[in-house]
Amino acid sequence: MHGRSILSASILAADFTDLGGAVRAAESGGADWIHIDVMDGHFVPALTMGPVVVEACRRATRLPLDVHLMVEHPETLLAAFRDAGSDALTVHVEACPHLYRTLETIRDLGMKPGAALNPGTPVSALEEVLPLLDRILVMSVNPGAYGQPFLESSLSKLTRARGLREAAGSDVWIEVDGGITPETAGRAAAAGAEAFVAAHAIFQHPQGIEAGVQSLRRALEPSLASA
Ligand code: DX5
Ligand code: ZN
Repeated sequence: MHGRSILSASILAADFTDLGGAVRAAESGGADWIHIDVMDGHFVPALTMGPVVVEACRRATRLPLDVHLMVEHPETLLAAFRDAGSDALTVHVEACPHLYRTLETIRDLGMKPGAALNPGTPVSALEEVLPLLDRILVMSVNPGAYGQPFLESSLSKLTRARGLREAAGSDVWIEVDGGITPETAGRAAAAGAEAFVAAHAIFQHPQGIEAGVQSLRRALEPSLASA
């Protein structure tokens, strides 16, 4: 069992004219990790950011950088993302014919390996690689954009991922990504999630970035509600 819930702030919804300021605000609000969504225009239609943005975030914060690769052939990019300062690299199962080898390479490069599951990919796809994993990323939207609604089918999937972990006696993180708000975070936590990625709910919160982080924290740790 891990202890407290992890909040991973996804910069995809940040104001890129002030990326450093946005990252520092997420940190001062209490985010635990900074989540960086890399999209290549092939694995998903959108094209976003690469190692130079990871390197810029690295200069803005000491928080762990949780890098989510929504790209084809991620194995060709692992060293570049390590050199840019990534702490964890999550690859998509659907993009990795040699998933075992790719996860070993991430580990051997000194980063924490993660595997992401699209909504249509079953948890069982991870059974053989579980010992290599630091985190399982359950996509609760179709990857490719921020601000989409949470897919309700993710709840039972999170519970299956948690079950896989318990059955194996593993301490892999169960991370959920997509449509996380104070309301869905609570339900995802009840279903088994412990690390929560959020873009819109943090970086576009009407009261600001710190308030966005804090509203998620209160939803996950109700004892803070009166603090
Ligand atoms: C979606 C990305 C997510 C996204 C989450 O493809 O992997 O990390 O930024 O955005 P929200 O929290 O707005 O759903
Ligand atoms: Zn992501």
